[in-house]
Amino acid sequence: MTRMMPYTKGVNMSKTKSKVDLKPFNKYYYYEKAVQNPENEVEFFNEKYEEIRGKEPKTLREDFCGTGAISCEWVKQGEEYQSWGIDLDPEPIEYGKEFHLGSLDKEEQKRVHYILDDVMKAQTPKTDVIFAFNFSYFIFKKRSELIKYFTSVKNSLKDDGVFFIDLFGGPDSQTVMTDEIKHPGFKYFWDCQYFNAINNDCRFAIHFKRKGEKKRKDVFVYEWRMWGMRELRDILEEVGFSQTIGYWEGEDEDGDGDGNFFECEDADNCDAWVTYIAAIK
Ligand SMILES: C[S@@+](CC[C@H](N)C(=O)[O-])C[C@H]1O[C@@H](n2cnc3c(N)ncnc32)[C@H](O)[C@@H]1O
Repeated sequence: MTRMMPYTKGVNMSKTKSKVDLKPFNKYYYYEKAVQNPENEVEFFNEKYEEIRGKEPKTLREDFCGTGAISCEWVKQGEEYQSWGIDLDPEPIEYGKEFHLGSLDKEEQKRVHYILDDVMKAQTPKTDVIFAFNFSYFIFKKRSELIKYFTSVKNSLKDDGVFFIDLFGGPDSQTVMTDEIKHPGFKYFWDCQYFNAINNDCRFAIHFKRKGEKKRKDVFVYEWRMWGMRELRDILEEVGFSQTIGYWEGEDEDGDGDGNFFECEDADNCDAWVTYIAAIK
C-alpha cells in the first residue's frame, strides 16, 4: 500500500490568481503550493470539531503559523470567525500579511491577528481550536519540553476546546532518501538527510527546482525528533487532556490515501503516512 508522501497535504488547488511576482524565486510561494491546502484544513477542523463537540468552532489559533494561510482562510467563513497566528520569524509573517491578509476584505482582515512571538510565550484569548501543523512541534526534542508546550496549549483553549496536531511516519520516513513530486512548472523534493534510530533525531530538507533552472537545495531545513502516535497521545493525556483521538486515512480503490480521516485504534503500517491527533480538553 502506498500513501501520500509525507509533508504534502494534497495539491494546492487554489483558483485565486496569485499576486506573487513569480520571476524572482519566492520560497514561501513554492512551499505553499507543494505542502499546504488551507481550504482542506479548515474543512477538517469544522468536521472533526463538530463530530467531537456537536457544534461549530468559531475561534482558531494557528501555532507555528508561518505565513498564516490557514488563519486567513478561517475568517472567510463569516463575521463570527476569528483567528490568531503565532510565529517567531517575521519573514513568513510579512509574506502572509502581503499575500493572504492582503487578499481579504477589510472586515475579514480585522479578524486575523498575527503575533510575532514564541508559541511558549505568546498570549492569546482562549480559542475553540488550536493546531500545530506540518510537524512544527517536532522541534521539541525532550519530553519535558513537549509537556510544557502541550500544557500551555491546554491552558489557552476554551473549556470545550480541541487541539489538533499532525504527524508522519512509516519506514520510508525513517530512511535517508529523497522523494520527488512534479508540480506545474516546478519540482518539489522532500529529503530525509539523517535519521538516528537511537533517539529519533532527524533532519529533513525541502529543495525546489523550477523548470529550466538549477535545483535550489536546502530551501527549508528541519532539525526534529520524530514523535510517534502512541507517545504523543500518552503525553497529551498526561498533561490533562481528557481524551485523545487518533485518526487514520481511508484508501481509494488503488490503495492510495483518499484524503478522508477516520478514528482508528489499529492500523497497518505502510511505507509513508501522514495523519492527525485530536486532543480534547
Ligand atoms: C515547519 S514550518 C510550518 C509552517 C506552517 N505551520 C505550515 O504548516 O506550513 C515551522 C514554523 O515554525 C516557526 N517556529 C519555530 N519555532 C517556533 C517557536 N518556538 N514559536 C513560534 N514559531 C516557531 C518557524 O519560524 C516556521 O515558520
